[in-house]
Parts: sequence; C-alpha cells; structure tokens
Amino acid sequence: MEKKNIDWANLGFGYVQTDKRFVANYKDGAWDEGCLTSDATVAISECAGVLQYAQTCFEGMKAYTTEDGHIVTFRPDLNAERMEASCKRLEMPVFPKERFVQAIVDTVAANEAYVPPYGSGATLYIRPFMFGSDAVIGVKPASEYQFRVFTTPVGPYFKGGVKPLTIRVCDYDRAAPHGTGHIKAGLNYAMSLYAIMDAHRQGFDENMYLDAATRTKVEETGGANFLFVTKDNKVVTPKSNSILPSITRRSLLVVAKEYLGLEVEEREVYLDEVKDFVECGLCGTAAVISPVGKIVDHGKEICLPSGMTEMGPTTKKLYDTLTGIQMGRLEAPKGWIQVIK
Ligand code: PLP
Ligand code: COI
Repeated sequence: MEKKNIDWANLGFGYVQTDKRFVANYKDGAWDEGCLTSDATVAISECAGVLQYAQTCFEGMKAYTTEDGHIVTFRPDLNAERMEASCKRLEMPVFPKERFVQAIVDTVAANEAYVPPYGSGATLYIRPFMFGSDAVIGVKPASEYQFRVFTTPVGPYFKGGVKPLTIRVCDYDRAAPHGTGHIKAGLNYAMSLYAIMDAHRQGFDENMYLDAATRTKVEETGGANFLFVTKDNKVVTPKSNSILPSITRRSLLVVAKEYLGLEVEEREVYLDEVKDFVECGLCGTAAVISPVGKIVDHGKEICLPSGMTEMGPTTKKLYDTLTGIQMGRLEAPKGWIQVIK
C-alpha cells in the first residue's frame, strides 16, 4: 500500500479529507447495514434535531502504525461503551458495540494510505459521531439518526508539540452537577468555544475548569483530563461526576501502577493544593499527555517545578510507556490493542 504524499512531520491537528467513511442510518427503530462511502458531505432537513437542539455526540480515538508495521487502534471497546452512555443520556439509539468496533476497523483499513508511518510523529485520528437527522420542531428527540466514522491524519493537538503549556483558571463553567459533563455531547464543546477563544485572546493555551457548585475543585480542560504528580512521586487525578471519563487517563493509571510501580490516587483535587504538585499534564486521545508548566489563577501564577522547557520526569515516563504500548514497542495489557492490519 502506497502512502499518500503528506508531510507527516508537520501536520497539525486539523481536518484532511480521506477517501472513505462509514455511514449507517437509523429509521423505524432499527439501524441499517451501513456502508463505506466516498461522499464526505451530509444532506439533512433544515429542521434536523442536530441543527435545532444539538442532538449529537461523538468519540475520538487514533490508529497507529506499530514498530513492526501493523496498523492498530487502542481500546475501541471503551469508546463504544462511552458512546453508548452518551447516546442514552441524549435519548439517541445505541450503535451496538461489536458493530462500532467493526466500523472503526473497516474505516481505518479503507484509509490505510493515510495512516502516518511509524516514527513520523503523526497518527490517524478517528471520529465516530451520531446525530438526529430528521425534522423536530417541538423539543423532543429525533426519530431518525445517522452514525458516521471518518478519519483524518493529525499531528500534535497543541502547537509546539510537547512544550509545556500555560493555562488559566477559568471563570466560566464547563459542566453542571448532574448535567452532561460526563458524556461526549457536542453541546459541551459548543458552550466551551467562547471560553477557549477568550483564553487564547488573553494569551493562555487552555482553561482549567473548576466544579460549578463550589468553584474550589479542579475538574478538567475543554478536551482533556488532568494528571498531577506529588513531591513524593504519587500520580493524582481529579475524581468528579461531571468530567469526561478519559480512556487515556484510565489507561495511564494502570500504566503508572503496573508498569512504573507508582502509587496512584483518584480523588477530589482542590485548587488550593495545586501549588504543591511538582508536575501537571493534560491527558486525552488528542492531547496524549501535554505538560503544563504554568497555571494562572486570576493573576496569581503557579509555576510547576518541572518548568517551561520540558515535560517533568514522571510525566515523561508515563508518556513514553503509554505511547510505547500504542506503537507496539512495549507489551500491552490484554485486550488493549485492536489489530486492524
Ligand atoms: N475530557 C474531555 C472534555 C475530552 O473532550 C476528552 C477527549 O476525548 C478527554 C477528556 C480525554 O478523553 P480520552 O482520553 O478518552 O480521549
Ligand atoms: C479527543 O481527544 O479525542 C477529543 O475528542 C478532544 C477534542 C478536544 C479534540
């Protein structure tokens, strides 16, 4: 298979149209068989549920070329399960787990020419999503839906690759208690756009959102969970019902414990204690682990001892081990790697 002529090393996190995508439609209470298509456009009613009431959810995952030349993806069963939770919370039909995983495998295989080569620094981002496609004008769920999966080759999510980020404590909330912060609903991202652009205008890379009820606890950023490292090398991550259960974060806790022999703690993390941590990272499919060097809380700077030039040493070990598993350099825990080719 000849690869496309793409400057893999200089890709950013953007959309590059690839050859094929998977499409399935839900009508009269059932999903059709679905198929791969070359048509990258969607034609729906002007009154579609997604356009009027934002009835849509999505997932994000990646395909990797391993050291020995296979194409693999990482824990797609967990993305299927999370999408199931998103669909249930948004009154959308579930796309069955086995079919979800097969759709990922088929879409990546059909776009093999776009899977970045091993060692290029790029990966193939996979975006499964679903939306209400028929007309609704009263506030109610649609009765017809479309599930699609497209792929796009990507580089680092944050400009500058692994250079430590500067983030700010945000005055806007991302998610309400008992709201939708724990699912991957498009609406969570629509309402974060003002906050992220405002952060950029003020010179920050991202927002640190606090819990909406008390504004004392660390939640997450717009697109990644937090990991902190304590002075005695413990890995700490916020526990909250209103953050997205990151598959990367859940995997990193296993990596920290089982591969690196570190103590891990998933617990409430107060903003007041952030100054005592020695490393901070943002973890997610897109972010992988992006180090944070500085957190600004209304003019008060918290400078992580790991500094502004490199990842902290524990963050680096976590990063190397996770990406080592994903790229086939290290043996993966059972069931983590889905071989595509
Ligand atoms: N938090 C938010 C709000 C996200 O959008 C994402 C990205 O998917 C994550 C966390 C990280 O989740 P994952 O590691 O499953 O990609
Ligand atoms: C991902 O990491 O897959 C996401 O969906 C996050 C998004 C901000 C790109």
